[in-house]
Amino acid sequence: MTLPIAVLVSGSGSNLQALIERVESGALDARIALVLSNKPEALALERARACGIKAVALPHADYPDRAAFDAAMVAAIRQSGAEAVVMAGFMRLLTPVFIHAFPGRIINIHPALLPSFAGAHGQRDAANYGVAISGATVHFVDEIMDHGPVVIQAAVPAYPDDDAASLGERILAMEHRILPQAVQWLATGRLSIEGRKVRLRDAGLPKAVVEGALVNPPLEQGF
Ligand code: GRF
Repeated sequence: MTLPIAVLVSGSGSNLQALIERVESGALDARIALVLSNKPEALALERARACGIKAVALPHADYPDRAAFDAAMVAAIRQSGAEAVVMAGFMRLLTPVFIHAFPGRIINIHPALLPSFAGAHGQRDAANYGVAISGATVHFVDEIMDHGPVVIQAAVPAYPDDDAASLGERILAMEHRILPQAVQWLATGRLSIEGRKVRLRDAGLPKAVVEGALVNPPLEQGF
C-alpha cells in the first residue's frame, strides 16, 4: 500500500528532500505525486524536478482571493491522484475550502513545540524568549493556524547564545526526522484522531535521548 501524497512548499525544500530520501530508501510507504508551491522561485520546486517529481507553481497573486487560490490547489492535487497533503514549509494559510477537501489528511511541520511559538517565526520567537527547550511539531491541519491535533513532537535544547539561525538549525535536523515518520504513520493507517488527541496504534515507549533530542512517539526503524 503506497500512499500518493502532495507536498506543499514555499521555500528551500529541505523537508521535501527528507521525504524524497525516505521514499528512495524504501522506509516511507508513500509516493510524492505532486510538489506544489505558491512561489515559482522556490528552490523546493527544483529539488522535485531534479528527482523527476511533478512540480507546479501556482502564484497566489494570480487569484482574486484565498478561496479561489485554494480551489486551484485542490484541483491540481486531485488531478495528481494524491490522497493526503503534507505542508513542508508552506507559508500560506489554508481556507476551509482546502481543509474540507482532505478531511483528516493534511499534516504540517512547525518549528516549535506547539502551542508555544505558533506563527511564522517559531525559531526566532523561542530563541528571543530564552527558552531552555524548543523543538518541532507535526500536527493535523485544522481551520486555525498551527492548532490541529499533534502527531509527533521532538524537543531539542536551546542556549542563551542561540539566535533564530542556530536554534533553527538544531530544530530543522529533527524536522527532517519527525515529518517523514509522521507521513509513514499516516500512510500505514496507524493514526486516529480523537478530538484533540492523536492515537498511534502499536506505539512504542519513548526511548532515551536521540542525538540530543527527545521524540514522542518514538522514531521507528528507518526514520
Ligand atoms: C521549516 O523550518 C518549517 O518548519 C517551516 O519552514 C521551514 C521550511 O524549511 N515551516 P524547508 O523549506 O523545508 O527547508
